[in-house]
Amino acid sequence: MIPLARPVIGDRERELVDEVLRSRQLSLGPTVTRFEQMWADRIGTKHAVACSSGTAGLHCCLHALGVGPGDEVITSSFSFVASANVILYTGATPVFAEVDPLTFNMDPAAVEAAITPRTKAILIVDIFGYPADVPALVDIAHRHGLGIVEDACQSIDGDLNGRKLGSFGHPAVFGFYANKQLTTAEGGVVLTDDDELYTLLKSLTNQGRSDDGAWLVHSRLGFNYRLSDVHAAIGIAQLERLDWMQDARARIAGMYQERMQHVDGVTPMYEGPQRRSWFVYAPRLDADLDRDAIIGRLEADGVSAKPYLPCIHLQPYYREAHGHGPGELPITEAISASTIALPFFCEMTEEQVHRVCGALDRAIRAERAGAAGAVEAGAA
Ligand SMILES: Cc1ncc(COP(=O)(O)O)c(C=O)c1O
Repeated sequence: MIPLARPVIGDRERELVDEVLRSRQLSLGPTVTRFEQMWADRIGTKHAVACSSGTAGLHCCLHALGVGPGDEVITSSFSFVASANVILYTGATPVFAEVDPLTFNMDPAAVEAAITPRTKAILIVDIFGYPADVPALVDIAHRHGLGIVEDACQSIDGDLNGRKLGSFGHPAVFGFYANKQLTTAEGGVVLTDDDELYTLLKSLTNQGRSDDGAWLVHSRLGFNYRLSDVHAAIGIAQLERLDWMQDARARIAGMYQERMQHVDGVTPMYEGPQRRSWFVYAPRLDADLDRDAIIGRLEADGVSAKPYLPCIHLQPYYREAHGHGPGELPITEAISASTIALPFFCEMTEEQVHRVCGALDRAIRAERAGAAGAVEAGAA
């Protein structure tokens, strides 16, 4: 079975984890500080705050902006559920704006139309590693006096017009779950140039510890959202080879893009003016195709595949507890109904890419032949 994702774990991860274990400083130690410094250097920001997950980082950023009950935060429903859950954690309400049909990121006009007197912030998402229209969204936020947080969890090390995500003046968060471009098993980092925000985030991720770091003095309500030194050690090993891993992903994506042009029924991933930080390979299937049936056929053929990404507003919890339902966001829903995640990882071979494309081609042909057969049988 070709898996959907598979992290690269080598001797360097084992060596650095072993160093931490031998040092006995498993948390709040120098390895986390080093990991943070490496991120700040790489992105060119003044600060980086490591945290236990991307979700934790996003939650802290909203909390730091003062988002709370009665507020609304505009975000995308074409994202992982965490992008909206973090808004609910603060007691605020997520408001979903439609996405652009090509980039799958929020359409700035839809964001502006969604602003009400209760809007407090915009939570930008860079989905599938393609940067959102950050300048347009920042402009809207500035004109309406709104805060901004950027969920770049899927866009690790991404950029927009050559400028690194995370360096636009508002906090941006990367996530390091095991399927990401870089993993710490679980983890995340917030990037910021703002000294005050940095101090606050350090405190919020560490139980609201007082800013002078005094022993067991907690000056605000915080969380335990710390990244351990063990996880940071994995992250340092990964950062050391991030360029190689990003190049490998881009090369594999290139092979897919080329081959998918010859698979009838599939629209390859969008290639626009911006560089994509390749996170998933998730092309679109034609609307007439039964995606679940195709996934079943692929799995029978030894190829993992998943419907990806489900809309957040159509998740059972969002329907039941928050009254959302189908028809609210036609563009988002149509995209979400047609995209399919295929195996995608750094160490994928050309032969595996070839196998996936061949299996998808066969699955689509078989589905279409079956559908045509059923129509003929019906007519007879
Ligand atoms: C767009 C997006 N936002 C947020 C998250 C949350 O990150 P984590 O799983 O590290 O909490 C993810 C993780 O997959 C994500 O894809």
